[in-house]
Amino acid sequence: MTRRALIAGNWKMNGLSADLGWAQDVCAGLPHPLPGDVVVCPPATLLFPFKVALKDSVVEMGAQDCSCFKGGAFTGDLSATMLKDIGCRYVIVGHSERREGHGESDANVRTKAEAALSAGLIPIICLGETLEQRESGKAEAIVTQQLRHSVPQVHGADVVIAYEPIWAIGTGKTATAQDAQALHAALRAAWPYEGAEALRILYGGSVKPDNAQDLLAQKDIDGALVGGASLNAQDFLDIIKHIA
Ligand code: PGA
Repeated sequence: MTRRALIAGNWKMNGLSADLGWAQDVCAGLPHPLPGDVVVCPPATLLFPFKVALKDSVVEMGAQDCSCFKGGAFTGDLSATMLKDIGCRYVIVGHSERREGHGESDANVRTKAEAALSAGLIPIICLGETLEQRESGKAEAIVTQQLRHSVPQVHGADVVIAYEPIWAIGTGKTATAQDAQALHAALRAAWPYEGAEALRILYGGSVKPDNAQDLLAQKDIDGALVGGASLNAQDFLDIIKHIA
């Protein structure tokens, strides 16, 4: 089965209205036809301006998190339905920065993914091991366990998984393409529901123009979740050009 590649830019807590020229630059530099999907996940404050800037473009929008609740007295939170309403097609859930910084468990991530699916969004569910877990040979066991507990019962075509080794995020260190491929293959084999072959598994963690080609050439790496390098339009385009 051929899976459609997906490159998603995670802007994290970066970006002001002065940075919206990014949308024009990326749209102008994309290959035609685009051999995959391209998504930008700006901070919530830029979702509406991005929706306007990306009108009529193939670049889709995602959010960086959503509430597991439908609505109500949850000050500061955003529901999946609100994100859909503002024009998102995707939402990242369970990023390690939220698991660590906001105490989110696998069970929380799963309920957020369920909320996203019921609102008609595609959740990008993040998994990844710490350096200590990798060095003690436990990476595969940890990450496949996160997969089983963080993912709602759904066909593989309806969600996206992002494997992001925590030690590679924002550090300039990446897993080798071979190590990443082995982990992705293990995740696909461990997918507990229907549709393992349709499941898109992205790699994330210091993806840059100079390592994207090797990573994206791997059989079970279906795209990338790009943090730092997605902030620069040219770097993001230089990663996108490696999808086939
Ligand atoms: P990075 O971030 O590319 O800056 O390492 C990736 C991510 O956290 O999604």
